[in-house]
Order: sequence, then C-alpha cells, then structure tokens
Amino acid sequence: MEKPNFEKEALAAEFKKYVEDLRLDPNKMKSQKIADVGCGHDAQFVRASLENGITNIAGIDVEFDEGLKVDQEFQGRLIQKGAEEVKLHDMDLITAYASLGSHPDIDLPKTLNNLGEGLKPGGEMKIYPISDSDELKGIQRRRDEILEALKSLTKDEFEYEFIKGEEKEMQSGEKYTDDLLVIRKK
Ligand SMILES: C[S@@+](CC[C@H](N)C(=O)[O-])C[C@H]1O[C@@H](n2cnc3c(N)ncnc32)[C@H](O)[C@@H]1O
Repeated sequence: MEKPNFEKEALAAEFKKYVEDLRLDPNKMKSQKIADVGCGHDAQFVRASLENGITNIAGIDVEFDEGLKVDQEFQGRLIQKGAEEVKLHDMDLITAYASLGSHPDIDLPKTLNNLGEGLKPGGEMKIYPISDSDELKGIQRRRDEILEALKSLTKDEFEYEFIKGEEKEMQSGEKYTDDLLVIRKK
C-alpha cells in the first residue's frame, strides 16, 4: 500500500486555501512576479507554489524556520522583514493571508502604502480575511478599520473593492462574512 505523504497533502491544502479564498488564477501566476506577505515561518504557500510551477515568488515574514533559511531552494526567495519596511519592486501580485488583515499591531496605513509602492501599474494586492464581526474586534481587522487605512492611499493611483465571502456563524449566533480586499494599482 502506498504511504500517505503528509507534507505533500499539507502543501496541496495550503495552495487550495489561497487559490479559493484569494481567488487566484494559478495559470496566470506562472508568469507573474509575486510576493506572499506574512507567509508564515514555514512559507508553505511559497513552497506549494513552487510545486505548482509558480517560480517567481518570494515569501516575506518577520521570522522563518531555521531549516528553511539554509535550504538552497529558498535562497533569495525568503525575505525576513516586516511588511511595513520591506522594499518590493514591479510586483504583479501581493498576497496577504491571515497576516495584514489579522494582526492588530501592524501599522496599516504605513504598510498599505509601502506595499502599494511595490506594485507595478495593473498589479494587485489581495488581503484576506476582512471581517465585519463584532466578536472578532481586536483579534482581526474589521472592514471599518481597513476602510480608514485605505484613505491613506492616493485616490488617483489606486482603486479597491471588497469581495464578500460566504456567510458564517459564530458560536454566539452572530452572523458574519470573511471578505477579500483587492487593491489595484492603476
Ligand atoms: C497566522 S500566520 C499566517 C501564515 C500564512 N499566511 C497562512 O495563511 O498560513 C501570520 C504570519 O504573519 C507574520 N507577521 C506578523 N506581523 C508581520 C509583519 N509586520 N510583517 C510581515 N509578517 C508579519 C507572522 O510572523 C506569521 O507568520
């Protein structure tokens, strides 16, 4: 009997999660320059992307696992920096899954402006999840906080839209949605 490959399964699940929730097009991504901001200490989405033939991708996080840092395959693909200060150039796509939208201590206006500078015209930044739940206040960024931060982006340079997620329910019975924010550089 064939042995289960848990690592491969975990990467496939991570890839599916990003593709579905961030509404990504894996084929298009093969020719794009991509950065995954707050990619996790094990940079799973970067690794999963490489498995799927998406090679022009970097992972950004404030911390990485030691083993990954010395792995040849990841040399130059991992950038150990905060999203507020990392310098990106000519990016087609910047993804942020459960990182910028979730960490209450990140300076959002500064971060959005910094990452926005790294996009090429026509490039997109996708941030998920943005919730409108009262219960998640203080744990996850709410749409109103994000809207406030978006005011700091120059109107004639950027446009944005929220794509509503499926309705979910808290144990308390509160109904909410996890939305996707797409910011496009004009
Ligand atoms: C919940 S994990 C999400 C990891 C991955 N994106 C995923 O969906 O599985 C959030 C990550 O954001 C990173 N992070 C927190 N603050 C950050 C910052 N200022 N700049 C970059 N990454 C940050 C954390 O180190 C952590 O690895």
